[in-house]
Amino acid sequence: MNKIPVWLDTDIGVDDSIAFLVLNKQKNLDLKGISAVAGNVELDFTYPNARNICCFVGADYPVYKGADKPMFVEPQTAHTIHGEEGLGRAKLPVSDAPETDIPAWDAIYNAAVEAKGELRLIAVGPLTNVAITISKYPQIRGLLKQILIMGGAAVGGNVTPAAEYNIYADPQAAQIVFKSGIPLVMCGLDVTMEAYMTPEEVYELGAVDSPVCRFFGDSTIDVLNFYERGSLPGLCLHDVCPVLYLTHPELFSGKEAGVYVETRGTITRGKTITDLMSDKKFPEKNAFVVLEVDRDGFSAMVSDILRSY
Ligand code: RIB
Ligand code: CA
Repeated sequence: MNKIPVWLDTDIGVDDSIAFLVLNKQKNLDLKGISAVAGNVELDFTYPNARNICCFVGADYPVYKGADKPMFVEPQTAHTIHGEEGLGRAKLPVSDAPETDIPAWDAIYNAAVEAKGELRLIAVGPLTNVAITISKYPQIRGLLKQILIMGGAAVGGNVTPAAEYNIYADPQAAQIVFKSGIPLVMCGLDVTMEAYMTPEEVYELGAVDSPVCRFFGDSTIDVLNFYERGSLPGLCLHDVCPVLYLTHPELFSGKEAGVYVETRGTITRGKTITDLMSDKKFPEKNAFVVLEVDRDGFSAMVSDILRSY
């Protein structure tokens, strides 16, 4: 089987960690490396979290340090949701893997060159690392086959009524990515708020007697309570969406659209403006916007994958 070379850029937090655990079990993906970015929690946590979750599952993917702050705006973390160190109540073994000695943007570029134009970049945090890579290596436009992000929303927001966290956290970086011309898949809140596990499904999976399922339970319990307090239907696994879109597109549907980022607004900072519902269209359809998911199938697949460890 020809495996698809992929890279994971993450502000590894709770749903990021589930996305990694799901990605790690995909037989048709060849994970070339992981880059950590500041986001949900500081880089001082996202970098070791990425190293430690690899150690936890016995994987030896190289992990690289990226940006410790957004390109221009002030950092905005999400400790209230992801916990002090980014993994809720879960604790991971400390990795003793050798530290890497080049920054994320150089590592991403090197991997893109090595993959000869086949590399797909899955970005599930603020897009700072991706934007720096594109800015330092403009020639990567011809080398990255696709960027699949968790970010944005055609309608709504979760940091403000207009903006989703990953875009809001670094709107200028997001704009660089959306204007890059690299084929883009956007898994925004339109689909990720439907990509949830019910409380019953979460408790059942967390009760399975295995290290990975116990990790799932410990890492998600506070996030689930947060969603339930907000009267949402369950645990939204935002960052799993771009991973399963790449390997199981049959679970999803969406539309091509023009999408660009508001970088100067106050009320609208970080809004992803799409032309999906407007008569006036942008000149280019620069993104495939994922809008719907088969929730039952998505939840069952995540559960089966985590039980398979
Ligand atoms: O808005 C959800 C996104 O913000 C997810 O990537 C989550 O991990 C946080 O980074
Ligand atoms: Ca994330």
